[in-house]
Amino acid sequence: MDPRGGLPDGGGRAPGAGAAFVDSAPRCADGGGAVSPGAPIDVRLENVVKRFGDEVIAVDGVSVEIPHGSFFALLGPSGCGKTTTLRMIGGFEEPTEGSIYLGDIDVVGLPPYKRNVNTVFQSYALFPHMTIGENVAFGLERRKVDKKEIKGRVLEILELVDLKGRENGKPKQLSGGQQQRVALARALVNTPRVLLLDEPLGALDLKLRKQMQLELKRIQAEVGITFVHVTHDQEEAMTMADTIAVMNQGKIEQLGTPTELYERPKTTFVANFLGTSNLLDGTVEGPGTVRLADGTLVQVDTAGSSGHVSIGVRPEKVSLGDAHPNTLSGKVKESAYIGVATQVVVTTAVGDVSVFHQNSEAGGLIPAPGDNVTVSWRADSGFVVNKERTLG
Ligand SMILES: Nc1ncnc2c1ncn2[C@@H]1O[C@H](COP(=O)(O)OP(=O)(O)OP(=O)(O)O)[C@@H](O)[C@H]1O
Ligand SMILES: [Mg+2]
Repeated sequence: MDPRGGLPDGGGRAPGAGAAFVDSAPRCADGGGAVSPGAPIDVRLENVVKRFGDEVIAVDGVSVEIPHGSFFALLGPSGCGKTTTLRMIGGFEEPTEGSIYLGDIDVVGLPPYKRNVNTVFQSYALFPHMTIGENVAFGLERRKVDKKEIKGRVLEILELVDLKGRENGKPKQLSGGQQQRVALARALVNTPRVLLLDEPLGALDLKLRKQMQLELKRIQAEVGITFVHVTHDQEEAMTMADTIAVMNQGKIEQLGTPTELYERPKTTFVANFLGTSNLLDGTVEGPGTVRLADGTLVQVDTAGSSGHVSIGVRPEKVSLGDAHPNTLSGKVKESAYIGVATQVVVTTAVGDVSVFHQNSEAGGLIPAPGDNVTVSWRADSGFVVNKERTLG
């Protein structure tokens, strides 16, 4: 049987890889992901809305295309609609409005078992009375796959998740991370078109979670199946995904590669959700120039921006001293030595500016509160958030 359940590949897609908002140009993944140019679309959401009762709009008009082979992350704070979006793709919830396609098939109304997807949840719920091998074989047994083939595939997939030789043990003999890998194997063995993962590492401690992030990425690259991964942890999303959709209040605020989102966030929300940003209010004066509230002119790439904006610059891109063209003077408010760097907050006429000052020279300058200093950054280190812009 065709492991993709005979779903035809979606054709007619413009060349280019990486998931894209519908109606905008596809973007290239920069994470070295498995997405190949012109890959067919595995998941397509068109203006999907989900209401619960009259009050709650959990998902508020989401349109997105996820090409085959993507490691796609839905990232956002608690309650922003990530799980609801995933559950609608899996068939555990139906949209109030809009369409959902897996390949070319409109799956709205189809029960979960008729969709060529598998889901791995945070609580992985293995069957305790079955062996690890039986747990993994479960889906194939139900589909009446040939016994010999089942055995081969179970051993193969256990090897993939680094649990070779454990097939006769019971789940309770495994650590949390190992159990999570069994849950993953149990889903992957069915070779679904898309694997949905809802905070699958949430129950693990930090060290194991970091290890499993790399494991998951390796496994996804090896099997080449599209992964849609839900997380509220920006570092986790950036570590694993080739494309991230940042969700806020039921909408996708911005979609892009980890680098695009970090280097060129388009909204204040994205700028602050992924890392920390200094945001300074100003007005676009001309191409490449913004006047800050105190009259200071700064250079920045203002393509497509006008009117009132915020200039963003990451703390690690601000230097102490006047080495770069954009400068502000101020007084040190706080200075915290953290070994690898000193975190400095400088009060300027246009607000506080955080500086991540690398301790690269022995005996180098460590500013103290009250010191008068200049901070500076390069024109191409900043980004512009259009205040008038409404997204979604
Ligand atoms: N069955 C339901 N009935 C009513 N409201 C619901 C239901 N499921 C979800 N919601 C609401 O929809 C919104 C989105 O919930 P969802 O579970 O998708 O959030 P999430 O982004 O996954 O959050 P978290 O990170 O906390 O898991 C929330 O306001 C939630 O309270
Ligand atoms: Mg959730």
